[in-house]
Amino acid sequence: MKKIKVLSTFGTRPEAIKMAPVVKKLRENENVIDKICVTAQHREMLDQVLNVFNIKPDYDLNIFKPGQTLAEITTRALNGLEKVIKEFKPDVLLVHGDTSTTFAGALAGFYNNIKVGHVEAGLRSGNLYSPYPEEANRKLAGVITNYHFAPTEKSRLNLLNEGYEDSRIFITGNTQIDALFEVVDDEYVFENELLNSIDYKNKKIITMTAHRKENLGKPMENIFNAIKDVVLKNEDVEVIFPIHLNPKVRNIANPILKDLDRVHIIEPLDYLPFANLQARSYLIVTDSGGIQEEAPSLGKPILVARRETERPEGIEAGTAKLLGVERDNIFREIDTLVNNEEEYNKMSNAVNPYGDGKASERIVEILIKEESVKKKEEI
Ligand code: UD1
Ligand code: UDP
Repeated sequence: MKKIKVLSTFGTRPEAIKMAPVVKKLRENENVIDKICVTAQHREMLDQVLNVFNIKPDYDLNIFKPGQTLAEITTRALNGLEKVIKEFKPDVLLVHGDTSTTFAGALAGFYNNIKVGHVEAGLRSGNLYSPYPEEANRKLAGVITNYHFAPTEKSRLNLLNEGYEDSRIFITGNTQIDALFEVVDDEYVFENELLNSIDYKNKKIITMTAHRKENLGKPMENIFNAIKDVVLKNEDVEVIFPIHLNPKVRNIANPILKDLDRVHIIEPLDYLPFANLQARSYLIVTDSGGIQEEAPSLGKPILVARRETERPEGIEAGTAKLLGVERDNIFREIDTLVNNEEEYNKMSNAVNPYGDGKASERIVEILIKEESVKKKEEI
């Protein structure tokens, strides 16, 4: 059998985490010649993940600039990727998710007549401006995708409703779950002494993250003020907030939260400690996409501080709740879960709807099957 050439492209922390298991399966497969190109839209936050999963990219476009605009990311990634495609000449280019790197990657493949495989295809919030610009990035990538790897039946239906051919859509589960199962461990010891000193048994630990661009400004202020209200009312609550490197997030968070004894603002954690911190938390408050998929797998209620989500499966399964971005409502919902055991148990016992840990395996098998049929037809 002729080997297929696959170029995997990613650029930010979440893409790297979710592509790590795919890249591993590609690398192990003797029918595949694979190369990795990182755009490095994120720098430190990407490198953290590359280190954890021991991924050594074949190409690093190193496009990151502090304060980068969406157009800068997209054009720098597009130009860099075109050169890589011309050199490696892949049969398939894999992109992941909904970032600017995702869109630029798909476009680079399309412009160079390379087939595009979109991992985590078909998620939709229904609002182009929330998450912004991710909803648009994911849809734009979809238009020029040949293999849609949809994580759930819902994402498959979204694609069918938009007119995509059923035979091009493959339900795989989410690769996020593949990565997670490898790293959570009851015996895990943190390198961060603060995290080791926390009394996870007797305190109610809330892990929080926030970074969405549409939340920068008043919505994020509301989220942080609501957290402050929860901490001041409930003495048994302690908050751990690994803060995104975006200075805009820090400028909003620090004045509201930095003087509170039971709120710990820390630097972004490596993936291992972050996954294990989630596993030891009482609940998670976030506007992140990927964390909405992880927390339910760990049996943790997840409160989503956003107006819309492209991941309704968790809400329907009862593991997640959409809080909106108003201070009063966010406070009320967190306070209820902190004080109402019945509500808490309902959410933490709901079943994870996002995958079984085998998504990457399926993606690689599908690629090989589909591409080997193509190669035979070409002969
Ligand atoms: C990007 C993605 C978003 C994803 C998020 C994951 C787009 C449009 N957005 O948003 O979908 O949810 O990554 O975290 O692709 N920074 C650093 N070092 C880093 C990373 C970021 O200093 O390693 C700072 C820089 O000041 C940078 C800012 O964070 O300007 C924002 O980074 P950027 O990649 O533009 O957007 P994110 O908000 O991280
Ligand atoms: N994450 C991490 N360290 C942190 C915070 C998050 O490793 O300090 C991981 C988290 O486990 C999840 C991913 O980063 O897998 C989510 O990334 P992020 O929230 O930045 O982006 P999104 O998923 O919203 O695109």
